[in-house]
Amino acid sequence: MTARPGVAVLTGSSSGIGAEAAVQLGRRGWTVCLLARRADELAAVAQRVREAGGTAHVHPVDLTDDADVRSVVDVLLAEHPRIDVLVNNAARSIRRPIRESVDRLHDYERTMAVNYLGAVRLTLALLPRLLEQERVDGSRGHVVFSSTMSTQLPIPLFSAYLGSKAALESFARSLLAEHGHDGVTTTVVHFPMVRTPMSGATAIYAAMPMMSPDKAGGWLVRAAVDRPTRVTSLGGAVSEAGMSVLPGVLTKVVTPGIRRMDRRLARRTRDD
Ligand SMILES: NC(=O)c1ccc[n+]([C@@H]2O[C@H](COP(=O)([O-])OP(=O)(O)OC[C@H]3O[C@@H](n4cnc5c(N)ncnc54)[C@H](OP(=O)(O)O)[C@@H]3O)[C@@H](O)[C@H]2O)c1
Repeated sequence: MTARPGVAVLTGSSSGIGAEAAVQLGRRGWTVCLLARRADELAAVAQRVREAGGTAHVHPVDLTDDADVRSVVDVLLAEHPRIDVLVNNAARSIRRPIRESVDRLHDYERTMAVNYLGAVRLTLALLPRLLEQERVDGSRGHVVFSSTMSTQLPIPLFSAYLGSKAALESFARSLLAEHGHDGVTTTVVHFPMVRTPMSGATAIYAAMPMMSPDKAGGWLVRAAVDRPTRVTSLGGAVSEAGMSVLPGVLTKVVTPGIRRMDRRLARRTRDD
């Protein structure tokens, strides 16, 4: 199914993949509601959306704050009789070994607060409208969830981040199972590494080849427009299949390779 240009609510659109997706949706004539905390950055992205031919609305919000989200949702519902697509893209990442996290439960709490609960909070608040609009005019709402290829592979050092993304994927699966037939479909997007402020926070990744934010933004647009259940790389899909059949073997094979790659990247970063 390919959606006509409509209204998209896009979280995490003040930078990185979300900002590029917003501009590309604007180019296709969509109305984009931009959500993130930093108002100035959102205003700059809104300007790019308008220059690309779209319509943009700026909604500064902290997705971990119930009252903040409630008041943005009230505005969204009042201003848009129909919301075609919600893209849950906002997130924070933490790279830290579990051994160094024994006194840092808050790492797990703060990743869950944004990546999982922030997305669930907004989805629950918009769900009644998404279901109602199906009954009124048959237009089906769609919810996109930004996740990562790292939930498809045995990846070390990101346990807090990956736990929150795995929970998010599970929520997406439940939402589709409960409402795929009567109003709301979902897409989970498994991004590989993308050159954004998030990946830039880890110094050794400067030397790693990565997808451009523009191309990654295109993955979100595909999710919003074509509405597949999943967007993934071939490598991610193959490894996911491998993990479901031989998780122990694949973990033994893959993780030493990742440790070697990290050491190589660290050497290259020092030499540059
Ligand atoms: N970059 C990668 O390599 C990569 C790989 C796999 C998956 N992903 C996923 O792709 C998505 C986009 O990531 P990105 O790389 O584009 O990262 P990014 O540039 O750091 O963007 C993260 C976005 O989330 C927003 N955000 C963070 N905390 C928030 C909060 N409490 N309330 C509202 N908004 C909040 C940030 O805006 P404010 O700071 O203005 O609030 C920002 O717009 C994420 O879901 C990420 O997990 C990224």
